Amino acid sequence: MDAELKYLEPTEDIVARDGGMNADHPMRKVTHQVAFDRGGWTSERAAKVVKLFDEMAQTWKDKDFDSRSMPLLDALKRGGIVPGGVGIELGCGTGAYSSLLSNQFDSLLCIDISFEMLVRSTSDKGFRIRGDGAMLPVAPGSVDGLFCVNTLLFPDEVDRILTRGGYLVWVSTSGNQTPIYLSPADVSTALGSAFAGVSSESGPGTWSVFRRR
Ligand SMILES: C[S@@+](CC[C@H](N)C(=O)[O-])C[C@H]1O[C@@H](n2cnc3c(N)ncnc32)[C@H](O)[C@@H]1O
Repeated sequence: MDAELKYLEPTEDIVARDGGMNADHPMRKVTHQVAFDRGGWTSERAAKVVKLFDEMAQTWKDKDFDSRSMPLLDALKRGGIVPGGVGIELGCGTGAYSSLLSNQFDSLLCIDISFEMLVRSTSDKGFRIRGDGAMLPVAPGSVDGLFCVNTLLFPDEVDRILTRGGYLVWVSTSGNQTPIYLSPADVSTALGSAFAGVSSESGPGTWSVFRRR
């Protein structure tokens, strides 16, 4: 049985997305396999993803922050999130959202598998850690909020690290045109029946918040 997923009305400021150019992006297949196939994240695949993002980091630009942060801000506003505790920003990249998220938590860990992305961080908020979302360097049941903005989903780790009342926030800043993308329904299916979620759209993107039932 899938997780329960409730859709809220989109906000009134929906921004047109680019025209489907990312649907065949190579990271799409990886994203799907990692979320649905427990054996999908191999050391070879991890090495390829590190190489890809280490290379992309050389020219990475955090763009259109104001519009791209709209789904994240809407998730914080309407996703029933209570600030405080320990948070993880997984796949933080160069830290476009780290300052915003650091205001949400007593402690924020900004984790990325790419060293080259981390060293180009434009934010000094949170503890920046090189790590893999498939094996997060935290104890079971120790994280109140896990934020995944345009990055991969590792369902077993979500289940392992979250506290009883913890939550996952899944944001795709360009909605279904985001290169690393899972629909809210796919995230719901990947997490399974132990979780229930709420989802909506804002600006150019989509967001979902999932909690244990
Ligand atoms: C598309 S970028 C998004 C960066 C940032 N969240 C943003 O939206 O600007 C995806 C990021 O996820 C990181 N990433 C990919 N796989 C990861 C993994 N297994 N563990 C941690 N980070 C990972 C990449 O290195 C990259 O920095």
